[in-house]
Amino acid sequence: MPNPTTLPVWQKLCAHYQEILPQHMRDLFAQNPKRFEEFSLESTGLLFDYSKHRITHETMGLLFELAREANIESWRDRMFSGEKINFTEKRAVLHTALRNRSNKPVLVDGKDVMPEVNRVLQQMRSFSERVRSGQWLGYTGKKITDIVNIGIGGSDLGPVMVCDALKPYASKDIRAHFVSNIDGAHLIRALEQCNPETTLFIVASKTFTTQETMTNAQSARKWFLQSAVDQAHVAKHFVALSTNAKAVSEFGIDTANMFEFWDWVGGRYSLWSAIGLSIAIYVGMDNFEDLLAGGHEMDEHFKTAPLEQSLPVIMALIGIWYNNFFHVDTTAILPYDQGMARFPAYLQQADMESDGKFIDREGKRVNYKTGSVIWGEAGTNGQHAFYQLIHQGTQIIPCDFLMPMHSHYKVGTNGNTHHKILLANFLAQTQSLMLGKTTEQARAELEKQGLSGEALETLLPHKTFEGNRPTTSILFDTLTPNTLGKLIALYEHKIFVQGMIWNINSFDQWGVEYGKQIAQEILPQLTSADVVTDFDSSTNGLINYTKSHQI
Ligand code: F6P
Repeated sequence: MPNPTTLPVWQKLCAHYQEILPQHMRDLFAQNPKRFEEFSLESTGLLFDYSKHRITHETMGLLFELAREANIESWRDRMFSGEKINFTEKRAVLHTALRNRSNKPVLVDGKDVMPEVNRVLQQMRSFSERVRSGQWLGYTGKKITDIVNIGIGGSDLGPVMVCDALKPYASKDIRAHFVSNIDGAHLIRALEQCNPETTLFIVASKTFTTQETMTNAQSARKWFLQSAVDQAHVAKHFVALSTNAKAVSEFGIDTANMFEFWDWVGGRYSLWSAIGLSIAIYVGMDNFEDLLAGGHEMDEHFKTAPLEQSLPVIMALIGIWYNNFFHVDTTAILPYDQGMARFPAYLQQADMESDGKFIDREGKRVNYKTGSVIWGEAGTNGQHAFYQLIHQGTQIIPCDFLMPMHSHYKVGTNGNTHHKILLANFLAQTQSLMLGKTTEQARAELEKQGLSGEALETLLPHKTFEGNRPTTSILFDTLTPNTLGKLIALYEHKIFVQGMIWNINSFDQWGVEYGKQIAQEILPQLTSADVVTDFDSSTNGLINYTKSHQI
């Protein structure tokens, strides 16, 4: 793979950027009444509007050329076919096989993985149905009322986000809790709501070695045994989701209660695997399979649509346009659906852990920007918090607005007062970010309010909005399991395309591993009586302060 900046089209994009820079979207819309039709796509049940971006047909043409010169189609096919494109860990990248509803064989090292995928799905179905129907009973013969997923990163963020999003589909008899943080508050706050007789703990960890998860799981077991006393009862209340059978059994969980997945499933892509067990129990296996089906539909779209019609490719290229040519640093994810409140946090891991890399696939330091900072909040809360900076700050923040046409919650007159207001706010934000407000418009408004002279001139610059602030709008009917599956897969493939163009490995996370390693080195120092001198003076100082204040 070449350094993207050496591709012939890169220089053309640099030159084109200079032409686009002074242009205002307001004028682009005025010049072309068909701009929406020409820069929007309806596909896989999503309406994807990218007309409010600082692009022209020439921009998109050059960006598609970039995707072709970076061999995106070939890399895509290599990923789907099970090639070990995660070369630093020598692993295939096959979360797509987990949602392969076509059941066509997918080979890893010459072996079809689909029979194993289907076996675990069947195991999840049978188990989740037993828990939901009350066939699976706790140690005193009572039905399970609470599930507690103990996991972190990819073993938490996907399930917590999906369970929250799909709450309208959830069983009214089961509550789902998620414990990730090693801060004891997280576990205790969950346990305070649970009864050991009716609680099922799902210990979710790909490696089954993650310190936070193992410690939280041990403490949960201790809490459980304070009531249950007999170790034999653990089997009814603890199950494991992991790739590491040995560590699961060492922990004391019967491997019969283990739901397996495989090293070709990256942690941040694992909600589609056994890691989704909490989802299956909470909303039912049929809904979990609808989520998989949505993901699969997006996979088929990504595999078959020409680049010019491919939602993930367009999304990725627009991101690269801002990241590498406008030099923007962040992207905001703004779901106008309260159920998707955790979607930005989920995408933070998916995107930043994947594409936060400065070494390219050849092992060289890159001389261009890679992953963007991802952040966001559900609308309209964000409007009353940070949108000011998006409107009038000094930096450009491209925003993704996600908007359902219908809410699960019918509130107000005709059941849609709230949703209409939500919709109006979404439309107002995307429009005003693009259009802005000219000095002339601001002046006219102030005059209408009776202002003139110095009072008007003082206020005028503050009431002027440059606009030209880019947004993507993604509209969908209702937040169903299927739609959510599509949206997650859309972002996964966007991240993949960007990583390939940036010529990085989007599938490892050595930086995070490094942090874990250092924490392991520091932990024993906190319990020794000696003054610590092994580290830099700041770390020594902080450790010694901590020790002297904990006695
Ligand atoms: O945060 C780093 C990481 O390695 C993630 O990639 C992963 O999702 C998370 O830790 C949890 O890992 P595990 O599932 O092995 O406990």
